[in-house]
Amino acid sequence: MSTEIQLEQLKQLRYDLTRFMMIYKFALEEMETKIEILKEEFQSLHDYSPIEHTKSRLKSPESIMNKMLRKNKEFSLDAVRASIKDIAGLRITCSFISDIYRVSDMLANQDDLKVLGIKDYIKHPKPNGYQSLHLLVEVPVFLSDCQEHVCVEVQIRTIAMDFWASLEHKIFYNYSKSSKTVPEHLTRELKNAADKAYELDVQMERLNREIQEIKDAQSENDLQEELRRMIGDNRQLNLPAQFMRLLGE
Ligand code: GTP
Ligand code: MG
Repeated sequence: MSTEIQLEQLKQLRYDLTRFMMIYKFALEEMETKIEILKEEFQSLHDYSPIEHTKSRLKSPESIMNKMLRKNKEFSLDAVRASIKDIAGLRITCSFISDIYRVSDMLANQDDLKVLGIKDYIKHPKPNGYQSLHLLVEVPVFLSDCQEHVCVEVQIRTIAMDFWASLEHKIFYNYSKSSKTVPEHLTRELKNAADKAYELDVQMERLNREIQEIKDAQSENDLQEELRRMIGDNRQLNLPAQFMRLLGE
């Protein structure tokens, strides 16, 4: 093969790879915008957001290649697209467990998103204790000349689940890279820590519900008080009967 043809092929490959990665980046940005909108809408209308924060990452070409090697797959962009579903990854941290399902439902109900799969590691934690809700969604990305459907992995978890998963990754990732097996008592302790994180989540959810009930009852009382005051004021002003009837007198 002549050097000229090789150079042309190399250029083409670079173009294809850049385009391939760019599409995943756009899909991630679409998802980030969706989450930002939900967050802002909740914050403005309910003075509360079920979303604490989000973090997104694009897998590097190097880790895509390593994963393909690990999976023993041939290297072509079509094969990568078909076998690696987490090139674009979005992690959403929620305040409470119920918020996780609320956010997941809100995403699933968006017409332009197609849920390809759900893995519920909250109802069914991994043996090491890992918990999160994983959604695989397909996002449409509109380019100048075509539309692509791109897969994004969305991990939704609470702060406690995120705390456990981040530290578990930090503590055990390097250890398992050295291909040593983790001693049994440490695996047990790790699972135990995950159970404690779950207990904390359940406790915080209950506290939040109870406070909410107290707040709701309080604002109901405040409203009645306000109404009584208005009725009193209106009596003094001697307002017409129709007006008083409107206030329930
Ligand atoms: P991957 O090939 O690693 O992507 O796994 P998978 O295709 O079987 O999907 P799975 O839903 O099991 O995990 C996907 C992602 O979830 C991982 O890349 C991690 O970010 C996260 N995850 C899964 N299991 C664990 C775990 O035990 N500990 C931590 N810290 N993260 C995990
Ligand atoms: Mg992964």
